Amino acid sequence: MNIVVIGTGYVGLVTGTALAEVGHLVTCVDLDAEKVARLRNGKSPIYEPRLEELIRHNILKGRLAFETELESAVKEDSVIFIAVGTPQSADGAANLDYILAAACDIAPFVREETIVVTKSTVPVGTNDLVADTIALACGTRPMMVSNPEFLREGSAVHDTFYGDRIVIGTEHEKAASVMRAIFEPFTVPIFETDIRSAEMIKYAANAFLATKISFINEMANVCEWKNADIEAVSIGIGMDKRIGSQFLQAGIGYGGSCFPKDTKALIAMARAEGKNLPLLDTVEAVNAVRYEKVLEQLLTIHHDLSGKKIAVLGLAFKPNTDDMRDAPSIKIIAKLLDAGARVVAYDPVATKEARPLLPGSVALHDEIESALFDAEAAIIVTEWYEVKQLDLMALKTAMRVPVVIDGRNCMDQNQMKEAGIIYRSIGRNNHDRIPVLR
Ligand SMILES: NC(=O)c1ccc[n+]([C@@H]2O[C@H](COP(=O)([O-])OP(=O)(O)OC[C@H]3O[C@@H](n4cnc5c(N)ncnc54)[C@H](O)[C@@H]3O)[C@@H](O)[C@H]2O)c1
Repeated sequence: MNIVVIGTGYVGLVTGTALAEVGHLVTCVDLDAEKVARLRNGKSPIYEPRLEELIRHNILKGRLAFETELESAVKEDSVIFIAVGTPQSADGAANLDYILAAACDIAPFVREETIVVTKSTVPVGTNDLVADTIALACGTRPMMVSNPEFLREGSAVHDTFYGDRIVIGTEHEKAASVMRAIFEPFTVPIFETDIRSAEMIKYAANAFLATKISFINEMANVCEWKNADIEAVSIGIGMDKRIGSQFLQAGIGYGGSCFPKDTKALIAMARAEGKNLPLLDTVEAVNAVRYEKVLEQLLTIHHDLSGKKIAVLGLAFKPNTDDMRDAPSIKIIAKLLDAGARVVAYDPVATKEARPLLPGSVALHDEIESALFDAEAAIIVTEWYEVKQLDLMALKTAMRVPVVIDGRNCMDQNQMKEAGIIYRSIGRNNHDRIPVLR
């Protein structure tokens, strides 16, 4: 099948590449000429495990191409996917400028039978707006499909091939049957519904996951006050199938390009109807201050940070990605600098993305050892494999004062204790008994 994907960000590029991998003929279009030039040379502009290898493979097979102009990409029978950004506006609502610009770009190529698929996360009713925009521009209304994306950055390729579900929302049986054919090779369950419910499923899913994170973080606070252990509590409640064991890791809260903006967009959607979503307001409020947790912990050990060298371990909002959008590291570093600390930071892949977002005084390291050298404390912000695998004796030797604040609960408390490291984490007690599942 001929497929055009508009936008080569995390979603468009992974989707386009995966569709090529299963045999479709895909052209990805992006306004960013530099990105397109890199992609044509088989270089991925983002870090995502396995992605670059698949891009190269499919270019060589002649199934994947990159263009800056739709004109060179669209064929008579192309199915057109929109995967452009929907960033947060100043009032929290989703900014639809890129979506509507893409709709105008598509209009000259739309025929009676054209199928336009929205992969971007868009507020309920946006697909109708896209169809109206196209119809106004060219006189023809395409068959619209809402096909929200559920991939997770850091495992985006895996998630595309082995996702939990593919949601197809459309009012056109012909479009639904083409979508079934496109996604048939993925052997992922397909759920078909109406277009507005499909749009809403994406927001409801992200809002629920964000709620789970704020919930477990609030429970971690109670564990700290009462000397209980949040990891034992997570396991204990997660064994209840109604609750489920995933997304119950206490820490410094959610960040990234989706949860913060999508939760705010959902709140804005309600506000536009003159309504409130008090539960999500609270989820947001809990998360907004969560990053301060590591600073509170640090201040229990070093009462004055001025002039102290503090190493921030991990900059990306989660491991296996270089995405810095809404990364807690940015706010943590700002607070450390405000307190007079000298900040150095380590990330195995995100330093290039992070550089423009951080003050010049923050030294960025690609090597963890050099970041730790002479530091008086290290704060784990992203649970990279490289951080979890740290040689604790080498860490202790490199640091001036061996203090580790673990914002992701990714280190073994007993090993830290044995290594003589002053260690604090989130909601975990100091009991020697660690949770055991028999
Ligand atoms: N990143 C994720 O993990 C994720 C997961 C699920 C859903 N989503 C949603 O998917 C959408 C895309 O997210 P992303 O992270 O891939 O965005 P992104 O910002 O990484 O990429 C968007 C790309 O679209 C290009 N673009 C914008 N307007 C264009 C146009 N008119 N023509 C051609 N190219 C254009 C930009 O140059 C950019 O390369 C958003 O709505 C997002 O909420 C993202």
